[in-house]
Amino acid sequence: MLGGAGGTAFAAQGLKRPITTARSPGIEAVPRGEILERDGVGPGPACTSLNVLARGWHTGRMAFERLPIRRLTEHPSNTLDRRTWPATLAPVATILDRGLDLGPATVLVGENGSGKSTIIEAIALAYGLSPEGGSTGAQHRTRSTESVLADHLQLVRNASTTRRGYFLRAETMHGFFTYLESNPSTSGPDVPFHEMSHGESFLELVVDRFRGSGLWVLDEPESALSFSGCLALLGVLKELVASGKSQVILSMHSPLLAALPNAQIFEVGSWGLRPQQWENLDLVTSWQAFLTSPERYLRHL
Ligand SMILES: Nc1ncnc2c1ncn2[C@@H]1O[C@H](COP(=O)(O)OP(=O)(O)OP(=O)(O)O)[C@@H](O)[C@H]1O
Ligand SMILES: [Mg+2]
Repeated sequence: MLGGAGGTAFAAQGLKRPITTARSPGIEAVPRGEILERDGVGPGPACTSLNVLARGWHTGRMAFERLPIRRLTEHPSNTLDRRTWPATLAPVATILDRGLDLGPATVLVGENGSGKSTIIEAIALAYGLSPEGGSTGAQHRTRSTESVLADHLQLVRNASTTRRGYFLRAETMHGFFTYLESNPSTSGPDVPFHEMSHGESFLELVVDRFRGSGLWVLDEPESALSFSGCLALLGVLKELVASGKSQVILSMHSPLLAALPNAQIFEVGSWGLRPQQWENLDLVTSWQAFLTSPERYLRHL
């Protein structure tokens, strides 16, 4: 039987049946800056219009208390010089200046170089995940390229919620699968990720590792995935979010993945971060225009 939230989606897409293994949640790393908020305590006075979570904050507040992270803020005792990178990126400065509330699902979209990975990687690190992917127990690290942002962020966590999570980072997953081979689980044989195609390995990883409650962070997962592969991933993420105990943070260039139900979408760019409806995203309108008449674009190349 398929385990985890993705069974239905996998079956619907006719994809390979994942190998199920009994895995421990992983050893937790000591998180960096974080504070706990007791149930029922809302965001602090710094809460701004960016942080209303589009109609969901007040009505869904009780449900949000079961999520791992409530809010990102700049660390009050370790502020970041705004003249230095990555604070020079507008969306990073926006988060540092105004904080950011996180609901069940957060989607970041924007042009290449706008700052999505910088933000998502810092959240993963601040939570205790490895910058190159894996769970809170993973120690995988090849070359340190992450920004210092995680050291300057404070995660406002909900009390008594999970500390589990996983970071799927497309650009480093090949090395991460090698790390898993070299550091096998003691609880049984692992999925042979290196014997799968790029997209198959991503989907198997999500079905095998993204289980139960946790913080699930994904950076450009669509880089490996076909249309139906993206749909399968969307099915897994949708079920995780629907459980009410998991939180998904996702950055991508895929209009399909950006349609994750109940996600708060932020368009990232020189303006900082702005909440946006799916149908109004540049990403969506550009693809719609291209698919309607590709020649209008091709003649300008
Ligand atoms: N170590 C660094 N020092 C200075 N600038 C950097 C460093 N690493 C990345 N940058 C710059 O920060 C900006 C944001 O990079 P980031 O990887 O976050 O973009 P992105 O939105 O994820 O882009 P993409 O869609 O291409 O993945 C880029 O302009 C990049 O060149
Ligand atoms: Mg990126």
